[in-house]
Amino acid sequence: MEVAPPGVNINVPHSARIYDYWLGGKDNFAVDRAVGEAIIKAIPAMRYMAGENRKFVHRAARDLVAKEGIRQFLDIGTGIPTRPNLHEVAQRIAPETRVVYVDNDPIVLVHARALMISTEEGRSEYISADIRQPRSILTEPLLTRTLDLTKPVGLTLIAILMLLSDEDNPWSLVDELRDAMPSGSILALTHPTADFNPAEVNQAVAAATSAGMTLVARTREAVQRFFGDWEMLEPGLVPVSAWRPDEPAENPEAAYYWAGVARKP
Ligand SMILES: C[S@@+](CC[C@H](N)C(=O)[O-])C[C@H]1O[C@@H](n2cnc3c(N)ncnc32)[C@H](O)[C@@H]1O
Repeated sequence: MEVAPPGVNINVPHSARIYDYWLGGKDNFAVDRAVGEAIIKAIPAMRYMAGENRKFVHRAARDLVAKEGIRQFLDIGTGIPTRPNLHEVAQRIAPETRVVYVDNDPIVLVHARALMISTEEGRSEYISADIRQPRSILTEPLLTRTLDLTKPVGLTLIAILMLLSDEDNPWSLVDELRDAMPSGSILALTHPTADFNPAEVNQAVAAATSAGMTLVARTREAVQRFFGDWEMLEPGLVPVSAWRPDEPAENPEAAYYWAGVARKP
């Protein structure tokens, strides 16, 4: 029988644990694997897609630090630690980089210690909070002690916004986060879409919904709106595998995520 860590409900599926299952992790339970498999049935390339999303995290973190001079990150919807984590990629290039991780899933909190191993110069911290309360994240003492909000921040919202329904108004939540960032800050995000393969993605959404989860695929136009008036960096909002790939992907639309990075003027 599976044993639940304290505070973790193993009777309802959780996105962090389903994603961990796709990535080959061990922090998932029968209920998560069942939904994970139902989604794989709908989208046979789901594991590949999760891997492409992770690779984007690495490429974006690398470029934000190496090319854009970002030295502090606010990563909301962090997920269960998966090496290399964002702070590892960033601190390899600039050891003084600081990262504040935020997630609202108790399983991520269980593993938060693994996210807080820092170099001598840099630091990473973890806040258990909900993106639906941006103010509480932005005013959290751990955040204000770790990040200097007068200097550019790398705000990363990677594969989280699809877990918010339109009723949550994720655009206004992201607006509030963007507004709190100084000029020169960067927003990097990915978001699943039905634009490339409506049949598969709609079936996956139906599988998640029937398991009681919120999963919303959004169009390119809807995802673009998250960036507001920030300036899109090259190559713009593109399929995740086409965002500055190390090796050009044979079929960039085989991973059904939009990905983009933008700078605050
Ligand atoms: C699919 S995982 C993505 C993990 C990581 N960002 C990545 O892309 O590799 C989504 C994460 O968002 C978290 N999450 C979902 N809803 C959230 C909310 N309302 N506030 C904070 N985190 C949330 C989940 O717990 C999960 O860890």
